[in-house]
Amino acid sequence: PAITRDRLRVAIQKSGRLADPARDLLASCGLTWRESRDKLFCYGESLPVDLLLVRDDDIPGLIADGVCDLGIVGRNVVVEYDLGRQAGGAPGALEEWRQLGWGTCRLDIAINDDERWAGAEQLAGKRIATSYPHTLGRWLSERGVEADIVTLSGSVEIAPRLGQADLICDLVSTGGTLAANNLKPVETLLHSEAVIAGPTHPLEDGRADIADMLLRRMDGALRLKE
Ligand code: PRP
Ligand code: ZN
Ligand code: MG
Repeated sequence: PAITRDRLRVAIQKSGRLADPARDLLASCGLTWRESRDKLFCYGESLPVDLLLVRDDDIPGLIADGVCDLGIVGRNVVVEYDLGRQAGGAPGALEEWRQLGWGTCRLDIAINDDERWAGAEQLAGKRIATSYPHTLGRWLSERGVEADIVTLSGSVEIAPRLGQADLICDLVSTGGTLAANNLKPVETLLHSEAVIAGPTHPLEDGRADIADMLLRRMDGALRLKE
């Protein structure tokens, strides 16, 4: 049975780089809610839009399962999630409903500072630490390269120094973390930015109109910023 709701639920990052800009964007759409950092559910006061404050990696699953209707999250997280589903034989569940133009970063392969880069072939048989095994796996298989993917949920940049991996594949924003760990970027797998993620199918019941209104306001707010 389809889930019916008369309020829209938007998942955003609880803390981290996208948390404040996401709240600012929703506030610029006229949404007000009761402020409370430790509250994981914020009831929208001015619009029938509620916020769920979660870990960014959990946002795609919440949308795919219909627990939330939309999410503000990095493309990197959305792509990884859908590739993971497809690896398990399921169809992709998510689409980018809007591109927000902030939170930009790259998913890069990075190697030790003092190593030479001659191309993807040199990765054959190497151990690559990443939090993006499916995105990396696709990139490697597109190039016919077989490598060992070591999946870590964070602090990927120290894996080479710990002897846990030979190189890494991780997000790069300023490049500060790579430099601090004597690593250098050599290939870009994905250009990412914050997006509005939603299901591949249109929303039903009253949520469709609420989402339309929110996105119209968002488009206005984004245009004003240009
Ligand atoms: C991200 C990413 C890198 C770092 C890159 O981690 O995983 O480690 O930022 O940013 P920089 O190029 O500006 O140094 P984040 O701090 O978001 O933490 P997380 O990996 O635990 O999500
Ligand atoms: Zn994260
Ligand atoms: Mg990190």
